[in-house]
Amino acid sequence: MALINGKGGVGKTTVTANVGGLLALSGWRVLVVDLDYQANLGLDLGYRHTPSDDDGLALAQSLAYGVDLKLLRDVRPGLDVVVGGSHIEGAAAALVSKAAQGKLLEARLSIAAMLDKLAADYDIILLDCPPGNDMLQSAAVAAARYVLIPVKTDDGSLEGMKITASRLESVIDLNPDMDLLGVLMFGSGTSATTVRREFSDQVVAALGGVDATPAMKAEIEHLVFTSYLRHSEATARKARGSGLLVHELDDKVKAAPKFWDQLKAGIKPQSVGPASAEGVADDLQAIAAEVVRRIQDKEAAMELANV
Ligand SMILES: Nc1ncnc2c1ncn2[C@@H]1O[C@H](COP(=O)(O)OP(=O)(O)OP(=O)(O)O)[C@@H](O)[C@H]1O
Ligand SMILES: [Mg+2]
Repeated sequence: MALINGKGGVGKTTVTANVGGLLALSGWRVLVVDLDYQANLGLDLGYRHTPSDDDGLALAQSLAYGVDLKLLRDVRPGLDVVVGGSHIEGAAAALVSKAAQGKLLEARLSIAAMLDKLAADYDIILLDCPPGNDMLQSAAVAAARYVLIPVKTDDGSLEGMKITASRLESVIDLNPDMDLLGVLMFGSGTSATTVRREFSDQVVAALGGVDATPAMKAEIEHLVFTSYLRHSEATARKARGSGLLVHELDDKVKAAPKFWDQLKAGIKPQSVGPASAEGVADDLQAIAAEVVRRIQDKEAAMELANV
């Protein structure tokens, strides 16, 4: 599953790391692939700037020269990672020149070929796409069975979603099995029911256009996830800053001594994290559950169609 939106800062990495972590916790074998030179996934999972962080070198070599991938294993139980970082830029440039030298197909299928050897070892592979870089984005989509587009509820993000959705159409020739799993609302206010209603309408308008039939509109509306990620800068900053997934941060907050107990013990009260971590952790859990439900629904429908 590729998490993609040409627009930056819409939750691609946060959702990749946390959904990956939650699925691993539930017993799935999970691989997350960081295709971004910013390597924020390493911050969310806590391995950035540790000795096991190669800044995307192994990934770049695999993409550019086809050598076998080196993985970072057991970043969490059941969760392996392909580390991203600055080396990816060079690999992406190598793919662009490969394409220019007449090997466009090879370049477009580079990520698919790289992951093909590993796919059988995992229940799910999540691709965290970079916000820019057309070549990597389209190679990621060419490798994906499902695509999830996180979107912020502002106009710029909706525009990014529209461009991303049209890019999906351009890889159908290479990857006819690719399917849009849904559009996920990121950073919304919790009580903003009307914001979410309007968001759904905007997605329908952006993807369906003015000529959409009621049936098409209903289909697009169904693409909008019912779960969403609420806005909480305090939790986001604390989680990324400490290399903890949000449910891990939440566990830590709950296990910490209460401030009155600290006071009673004569210790200066210290907070390990914001109380808002609980709500954000709940949202991410609901998102992970909806990802699973949607994939299961699609795969059940496919099986029926094949009977
Ligand atoms: N629930 C939240 N509320 C508010 N901000 C959040 C929340 N979760 C994450 N953030 C913050 O929002 C920013 C963007 O999130 P993230 O990095 O996941 O987006 P992205 O789409 O991967 O960005 P990029 O396109 O740069 O890779 C980050 O600073 C992140 O810490
Ligand atoms: Mg990111």
